[in-house]
Amino acid sequence: MAEGFNHSSCAAFEYKLVLHRGFDLISGIHSPEVVDQIHNFEIRDSDVFVITYPKSGTIWLQQILSLIEVKGDVTATNDQLNSQRVPWIELLDSEKQFVSAPSPRIHVSHLPYKFMPLGLKQKKGKVIYVARNPKDILVSYFHFHKYANMLETPKDFDAFFEKFMEGNVFGNSWFEHVKSWCSHKDEMNFLYITYEEMIKDLRSVVERITSFLERNLTPQQLNDVVEHSTFKNMKNNPQANYQQVPVILLNHQLGAFMRKGTVGDWKNYFTVAQNERFDKVYQQKMKDVPLSFIWDMSDLVTP
Ligand code: PPS
Repeated sequence: MAEGFNHSSCAAFEYKLVLHRGFDLISGIHSPEVVDQIHNFEIRDSDVFVITYPKSGTIWLQQILSLIEVKGDVTATNDQLNSQRVPWIELLDSEKQFVSAPSPRIHVSHLPYKFMPLGLKQKKGKVIYVARNPKDILVSYFHFHKYANMLETPKDFDAFFEKFMEGNVFGNSWFEHVKSWCSHKDEMNFLYITYEEMIKDLRSVVERITSFLERNLTPQQLNDVVEHSTFKNMKNNPQANYQQVPVILLNHQLGAFMRKGTVGDWKNYFTVAQNERFDKVYQQKMKDVPLSFIWDMSDLVTP
């Protein structure tokens, strides 16, 4: 989440979560002033915002969108990291970069809806919301906390489970994040996709994205985008896999961004009691929300 962040500007900083207008920012990476400016950014029709709760597939969308823009030609993405090509909107210094960037400006963000540019509500620009089942997010985020230096290392999985359930992590409550964005979807040019759909049929999701963004790619170019966005190929692609994020932010000895890339890994971590508790909270919080998730690889197989 701090990828693309400038090494020198974060040296010797003690990162901590700082509450700002009901949302935790990471000091040294975000600032309340910068985040508050986003609301008034002037939006161009060609702007694209990819919105994710952490660990929902942000890096995957950075790769897919980078490739769509160069019509699948992966060699054309070699000159820049994807995190620079599709940067974060909420990082320190992002305003200068955002204002001067040529069109189309494509950005990612973990921010909740209330911070986003007002222009989106006038149907300017486009929003792609990527959702992932929250049990797999919890597990992915647990591992990320162990190797991300800007996040507190959890004592163990049980302790992290509690933190996630309380929304006491960067991103805060997963439930509130997905609800805040999806309840406003009709106000924006909005595409909702899920991580699990991408695992099931990446090509059809890439087609939906290209058509939403009104990009014309030949079938071969679409194949190329898909081919270079697979887990295996991204893991081997230094432009795409975040191995180049400085050690001050990510301790690469302790983990990898491209960790497992699957559906249902939560089953290897949740106890029966944790699962029952999660399901209860999920049912309460999502009861009026018309969204459903895939929780296991076996649910992806069409009979
Ligand atoms: S972050 O820190 O919020 O920006 O992380 P984010 O990029 O949103 O999420 C990282 C997880 O996405 C998985 N990923 C993929 N899965 C399958 N295929 C592809 N191509 C792919 N690219 C990224 C990545 O492995 C992380 O999930 P886990 O479960 O930890 O493996």
